[in-house]
Amino acid sequence: MSSNEYLTENDPMFSAKKRTTSEIIRRVSSYLWPYKGLALATIACAVVSLLCAFAFPRLTQYIIDDVINTGDTSQLDIAILILIAAFFLRDFFNSIRIQVNNYFEQNVVFDMRREVYARLQRLPLQYYDTRASGDLMTRVIEDVNAVERLLIDGTEQGTVSIISILGVLTILFATNPILAGAAMIPIPILIIGAMWYTLTAHKRYRKQRQAASAMNSLLMDNLQGVREIKAFGKEKHEDSRFTDRAEAMRQGTLTIMRAWAFYNPSMSFVAATGTGLVLWIGGGQIMNDQMSVGELVAFLFYLALFYDPISKLHGLNQMLQSARAGGERVFDIIDATEERENFEGLNPLPNKVRGEVKYDEVHFNYSKDKSTLKNISFLAKPGQMIALVGPTGAGKTTLINLLPGFYETNQGDITIDGQNIAKTSLESLRKNISTVSQEPFLFNGSVRENISYGNLNASQNEIIAAAKAANCDNFINELPEGLDTKVGERGVRLSVGEKQRISIARALLKDSPILILDEATASVDTATERLIQQALERLMSGRTSFVIAHRLSTIRNADQILVLKSGSIIERGSHDELIKQQGLYSRLARIQNTTFIEEGFERLESDNK
Ligand SMILES: Nc1ncnc2c1ncn2[C@@H]1O[C@H](COP(=O)(O)OP(=O)(O)OP(=O)(O)O)[C@@H](O)[C@H]1O
Ligand SMILES: [Mg+2]
Repeated sequence: MSSNEYLTENDPMFSAKKRTTSEIIRRVSSYLWPYKGLALATIACAVVSLLCAFAFPRLTQYIIDDVINTGDTSQLDIAILILIAAFFLRDFFNSIRIQVNNYFEQNVVFDMRREVYARLQRLPLQYYDTRASGDLMTRVIEDVNAVERLLIDGTEQGTVSIISILGVLTILFATNPILAGAAMIPIPILIIGAMWYTLTAHKRYRKQRQAASAMNSLLMDNLQGVREIKAFGKEKHEDSRFTDRAEAMRQGTLTIMRAWAFYNPSMSFVAATGTGLVLWIGGGQIMNDQMSVGELVAFLFYLALFYDPISKLHGLNQMLQSARAGGERVFDIIDATEERENFEGLNPLPNKVRGEVKYDEVHFNYSKDKSTLKNISFLAKPGQMIALVGPTGAGKTTLINLLPGFYETNQGDITIDGQNIAKTSLESLRKNISTVSQEPFLFNGSVRENISYGNLNASQNEIIAAAKAANCDNFINELPEGLDTKVGERGVRLSVGEKQRISIARALLKDSPILILDEATASVDTATERLIQQALERLMSGRTSFVIAHRLSTIRNADQILVLKSGSIIERGSHDELIKQQGLYSRLARIQNTTFIEEGFERLESDNK
């Protein structure tokens, strides 16, 4: 069976750095600190309700030994009234405790979840290149919950259990040291059991969390690729892939359950032998007149109050191990390095730069073993249009992704108006750059929301003007609800040409001095093409523009054309200059009847063979 195919212990996609239980407790405690008042209130309520519970054995002893013998029913009535009152107080404080505790724990989880999300948004793109969205979602939702469960019970039950164990222990030894000693006999076995469980549980939980991540990642991937699954008729194939991962999840959970099913009853049995011992020795003591019946009954009730928190501690240990596995996955995100740390100390760029962009001997690689960009140098003057051309995989998108700081250069500097972008705040940098990407991403909201993403403060008139300038108005007017029409996830309800124009409108609204345009390769009909072209020209005018161009018509207008091949600029200049150079570009341009420059590359490649 291939169920464990995704569950190698150290799959970097789903695993997390190992951390000790004490580190997890310490980290989680730092979230509790702001709510220490609430935490104390919870514990106080629990202690009061515990003290009320102590009244039960004491009163029972009193009734059996003193009241029943006297035959005075009025004393019995009073004792019962006191008992009822004690029970009432116990449950009353319990109710308050539950409410305070929920409030407390939800606050902590809220803080933690927000921090994880905020951190996720500030991690470099490189982080996402090696992770699955489903895994990250699992961490934000499920793993935070695992930590939450520990908080609900851990803080308060842990303290209360320990307090009640110590309290009851004192009472037991004070009332009858011999019986108390007998009751302690199973304790070493309980401790050994707990240690075995603690030491082995972590591996099981970690595996189960990884299985959950793997399953959710596949689910996420498949939901996004549902069109491809249908188009390729791969429903059965995906059924079986999902089954494998669900099976790993089932196995992982069952392994945890099996260990618990063995551990918990065993511990309960060991504790019960303690009760047996006490009854055995205590029975003997009564027969020898060393003890009253009431005292033994009270002792047994107290004993229940002793073993009960011990079994709670076992349950807590289980939660702790689950929280540890979840917590280490959550803290992995929180501890990941933000893109550009300490950015408060960095010089921001002005709100509107002039737009002079310079690459100076820039080198970049995604991984150590392969260099993607080599020695890239060029200067773009304000308002110029730079076209990047080159075969697929040459590094055009990579080159352009360095400008907004999506990736950091390995060597060499990029400057805007003479200011090194590596030493500037990302916020000010990105404010100055608009991007229209190859496959524009639209959010699942209305057309209006998607356009105003360029400037959330834009007025209705500004939005309409941007939509007009991007040639969106025609199709928007035909949509059932105009600007308020929902576009669906990733904009599925719109055509590619429509999505492109919305993304142009969005960039227009952002109105930044530098523009990045990864021209779409998808063909649209010539009429739409003209509309898009016109919209782009309006967008580019007056801005320094970097265009990854595929259409020869776009390239001809560029002030400077950079021809990229295998990560290096092999030719540069205007269209006319490059034609004169008689190099690759001139051969491309001479090939007749092509609209897309790639077709030229392909033909040249096959000619060379
Ligand atoms: N996130 C990434 N992680 C690792 N390698 C990458 C990543 N993105 C791109 N690459 C690699 O870097 C090289 C350059 O890719 P890039 O996307 O810049 O090419 P491109 O010139 O834009 O191609 P196209 O015209 O097809 O869009 C390719 O070999 C690609 O496999
Ligand atoms: Mg590209």
